[in-house]
Amino acid sequence: MTLIAASTAVEIRQLNYFFGQGDLRKQVLYDINLELPRGQIIIMTGPSGSGKTTLLTLIGALRTVQQGSLRLLDQEIVGLRRSALVEVRRNIGFIFQAHNLFESLTASQNVEMAVELLDNWGNKRQKAVAILSQLGLADRIDYKPSTLSGGQKQRVAIARALVNQPELVLADEPTAALDKQSGREVVTLMQNLAKTQGKTILMVTHDNRILDVADRIITLVDGRIETDEMSSG
Ligand SMILES: Nc1ncnc2c1ncn2[C@@H]1O[C@H](COP(=O)(O)OP(=O)(O)O)[C@@H](O)[C@H]1O
Ligand SMILES: [Mg+2]
Repeated sequence: MTLIAASTAVEIRQLNYFFGQGDLRKQVLYDINLELPRGQIIIMTGPSGSGKTTLLTLIGALRTVQQGSLRLLDQEIVGLRRSALVEVRRNIGFIFQAHNLFESLTASQNVEMAVELLDNWGNKRQKAVAILSQLGLADRIDYKPSTLSGGQKQRVAIARALVNQPELVLADEPTAALDKQSGREVVTLMQNLAKTQGKTILMVTHDNRILDVADRIITLVDGRIETDEMSSG
């Protein structure tokens, strides 16, 4: 029992989710049951409006679970106090479709902001430079986003998500704004994180070009998991 729990990054049981109140209340997720083991790259796909982003933000503890249970990295998060939730979130890295970088800050400063969320920063500049270099941006450390290409900006956003070495990485359509080659670079990088560092990556995409990196593909349709299959890779 303990061993199984210890190897699970995300465990969702009988989760339902609603937007709105009263007559306007609308269910968007239905009876979601999902177990994501550590060290895998899982792709979640499905039509627009099917509830992918809602589910991802629930898993990221950015939304409150209304019905059902959610265990993240071996901790039940339903009913956790705000301060405990903040702790859990420190082990989660987020990458969004729009990179959400601060335009007035350099690549390094954008990454350093994430390091500042820790109690004990250490040398934040050094950490930022190290991860940006790993992502092939050694010669762009002090550049501002407006001078970077789309792929470079997304890599800065990835550096920011990874600099604190989260166990779980959640990415919402990270390649949507990228050309084919940059998109491929981004997903290969995520695949390596899962393979070499045992990170768990959950990536939402409807980019068919990148499905081959997945260990597993989950399809959400109208708020329900329609298929959940191991991928041949
Ligand atoms: N903040 C919100 N308020 C009300 N309805 C929302 C909100 N966000 C999303 N929805 C609705 O929830 C459903 C799922 O949306 P979403 O999770 O964004 O789907 P996806 O990411 O798969 O496109 C859609 O019908 C959408 O209109
Ligand atoms: Mg979405």
